[in-house]
Amino acid sequence: MITSESLVNQSFRHTDNTLACDGVSIGSIVESVATPVYIYSARAIRDAYRAIDEAFASYPHAIHYALKANSTLAIVRLLRAIGSRADANSGGEIQVARRAGFASSDIVFTGVGKTREELESAIADGIGTINAESPGELDRIAAIASAHGREARVALRVNPDIDAKSHPNISTGLRINKFGVPLQDARAIYRERRDTRGLRFVGVHVHIGSQITTIEPLRRAAETLVSLALELRADGFSLEHVDLGGGLGIAYEGRPIIHPSDYAQAVIPELKRIGIPVVLEPGRAVVGHAGALVARVVDVKRFPDGRQFAVLDAGMGELIRPALYGSYHQIVPVAPRPGADRSWDIVGPICESSDVFAKERMMPALEVNDLVAILDAGAYGSVMASNYNRHLLPAEVMVDEGKWTTIRRRQTLDDVLALES
Ligand SMILES: Cc1ncc(COP(=O)(O)O)c(C=O)c1O
Repeated sequence: MITSESLVNQSFRHTDNTLACDGVSIGSIVESVATPVYIYSARAIRDAYRAIDEAFASYPHAIHYALKANSTLAIVRLLRAIGSRADANSGGEIQVARRAGFASSDIVFTGVGKTREELESAIADGIGTINAESPGELDRIAAIASAHGREARVALRVNPDIDAKSHPNISTGLRINKFGVPLQDARAIYRERRDTRGLRFVGVHVHIGSQITTIEPLRRAAETLVSLALELRADGFSLEHVDLGGGLGIAYEGRPIIHPSDYAQAVIPELKRIGIPVVLEPGRAVVGHAGALVARVVDVKRFPDGRQFAVLDAGMGELIRPALYGSYHQIVPVAPRPGADRSWDIVGPICESSDVFAKERMMPALEVNDLVAILDAGAYGSVMASNYNRHLLPAEVMVDEGKWTTIRRRQTLDDVLALES
């Protein structure tokens, strides 16, 4: 039984004053692969996936892991091995999912701004469902599919104008956001295209945002979507599923927040009104806790007003979430020094004032060469990394059953310059 307590970060723990990932010493991994490095716990990914699967055990469901959260091949393969399906947000993610072994029919293709090439290859491949973002996109899908004598399986993403009560930059279900079609237009869009050649309407889709930590917006989104699906059923559509998207938040601050079973309990009564399977697209909730970014302190600066900075060899190029959304990550020294905690600004080496991981954070003493781990960095971490300031993409390591393996080697400057003339 996976409890609420087990869904805070359990994988990265200190034993004998040194940080380990599921018992494997972080220091020993760094000795081989250097820093910065993303380290993932395979066990944490399996546990988080199972928590969602178990929560929905009483209702027909399919979990399509959202590759956008982390699409490193080994992680995508691991999820396929434990029964997940895939949610891809681009042609690139579809290809990664295919290389990880997913059948095309097990992939949903979501995303604003799908290109003609992406749609053509998704349709030719027989992708499971294309979640269309607009009437125009539905028409383009219809034209491509019928020109190839095919029928594309589609759902329309509706924008229900529900406040996910998350960070504004990761809320997607408000009227002001670019995502989906206004709820009040959805029924007409389905009806007008009911007999369009090349389209087969198999579902309805909603995704109201990410890092959602309260149940009510998620319940309301489900209620709204199921009501639309019932109207469409009355109009003669035989839908196969309702797709509730992703969005389930994780406990970045170490205190348990909503558990997948709270989510399931809130939405299953809504789903029962229609009785068809539900598609879930969780990303963060599956991989967020499983990863840490480990970095080395390269400088310590003390200002006369008492502020002290620890400058790391990783910054917004490796993990942009704090700079992008002001998001919070726990940061722990790998081998905490004794003595009282002091206030630290933990910053990266990049030439941007926003390259800050934490401000005025109470932490043990830090010295040059110390290692720190930025926790809960498994989602929207390595996937958003960049080469800004010509930083090289970090290595990635997976810990599984007491052993570790490099699942992505560190990028070299030759890798980067190979693209340039
Ligand atoms: C359509 C869609 N589905 C699923 C997800 C995954 O969201 P999360 O990682 O919050 O579960 C996203 C991310 O924002 C998304 O845009």
